[in-house]
Amino acid sequence: MQNDTILLEVKNLNKTFPVKKEKLYAVSDVSFSLKKGECLGIVGESGCGKSTVARMIAGIIPVSGGEVLLEGEAYMNLKGSEKRRFRRNIQMVFQDPLSSFSPRMKVGTYLMESRRNFDGISKENGLKEARKLLLEVGLPEDFVNRYPHELSGGQLQRVAIARAISIQPKLLICDEATGALDVSIQNQIAKLLVKLVEEKQISCLFIGHDLALVRSVSQRIAVMYLGRIVEILESETLAAKAVHPYTKMLLGSVFDVYCDQNEEIAAAKGEPPSPLEVQKGCAFAGRCNWCREKCKEELPLLQEIEPGHKVACFQFMK
Ligand SMILES: Nc1ncnc2c1ncn2[C@@H]1O[C@H](COP(=O)(O)OP(=O)(O)OP(=O)(O)O)[C@@H](O)[C@H]1O
Ligand SMILES: [Mg+2]
Repeated sequence: MQNDTILLEVKNLNKTFPVKKEKLYAVSDVSFSLKKGECLGIVGESGCGKSTVARMIAGIIPVSGGEVLLEGEAYMNLKGSEKRRFRRNIQMVFQDPLSSFSPRMKVGTYLMESRRNFDGISKENGLKEARKLLLEVGLPEDFVNRYPHELSGGQLQRVAIARAISIQPKLLICDEATGALDVSIQNQIAKLLVKLVEEKQISCLFIGHDLALVRSVSQRIAVMYLGRIVEILESETLAAKAVHPYTKMLLGSVFDVYCDQNEEIAAAKGEPPSPLEVQKGCAFAGRCNWCREKCKEELPLLQEIEPGHKVACFQFMK
C-alpha cells in the first residue's frame, strides 16, 4: 500500500549525448514524482529514453540538466563517502542478471556482498540473511551453494531482485527486468515485485515494453515518446481514459479487446523523428491523425487535464 509521502521528485530532467559533432537529445524535460510504496511504470518504444532516465536517477550517468531529489535531498552532486552512503537507497535490476554475476561466485556470496560492503556484517550472518532472502523471493534456501550457471533465467532474476532488496533500498528500478524471460515467468516475477514493494514499502520504477505487464505491476504509467513524457495517468484507468494519440496507438496494439471497435484508428504507424534534431513542434505530429498546423510549430507541454492525469497534446488543452 502506498502512502502520500513523496519519495522521489524528478524535475525537468535533460540528457544529451555528444554524437560525432552533433548532440543527441535522449531525455528532454522529464518531471514526475513517486510516492513511498508506489510503483510507476515507464513505457515507450525502443530508444525513447527510458533507460537513460533510470540511469540518471540511479546516479550511474550524470544529468545534463534538471534535478532529482530523494526525500528532499538533491543527491546528484554528492561525493566520496556521502555518495557511498547514499548509493544503497537506489538499487537497479537489469534485463540480463548474468551481467552482474561473477561466474565463480556462489549465490550465497553474491547475496551477502552488498550487506558486507555497506554494513560490515560477518560472513556467518551474511549467509543466514542470504538464505532468508532466497525464501523471500520464492527460491529454496540451499541455492546459496549454487553457481549462476546452475540457475534458470527466471531463478537468476529472482536472485538479482533478492540482492537488490538485501540492503533495504528506498527505490528499486527495474529496467526491462523481465524482458528476456518467457511470458509465464515474466508474470511470476511481476507478482513477486508487487509483493515485495508492498511488504517492504519500497517505491519502484518499472520500465518495460509490454504495456499489459507494466500495467499489472504499476499504480501509474508514464508514457514516453522521443525523450519526453507525453502522458501520465493511473494504470486502472489506462484503457478507458488515455487520450494521447501515441498512448492510444500503444493501447490499440495491446488491448484490442478493450478498445471501441468503431473508433477511428488513432494514429498511423511510422517511425519517430531523429533524436539528433531539435524538435520544433510535437514529436508525434508526423504519425498523428489529429495533427494540426500548431502541432508542427509549437511543443505541447505536459498539462493536467483531470486530477492525476497529465497529457502533452493540443487536442486536450484548454
Ligand atoms: N551512451 C550513449 N551515447 C550516445 N547515445 C546514447 C547513449 N545512451 C543512450 N543513447 C541514445 O539515447 C536515446 C535513448 O536511449 P535509451 O537507452 O534511454 O532508450 P530506451 O527507451 O531505454 O530503449 P530500449 O527500450 O531499447 O531499452 C537513444 O537514441 C540512444 O541511442
Ligand atoms: Mg532501455
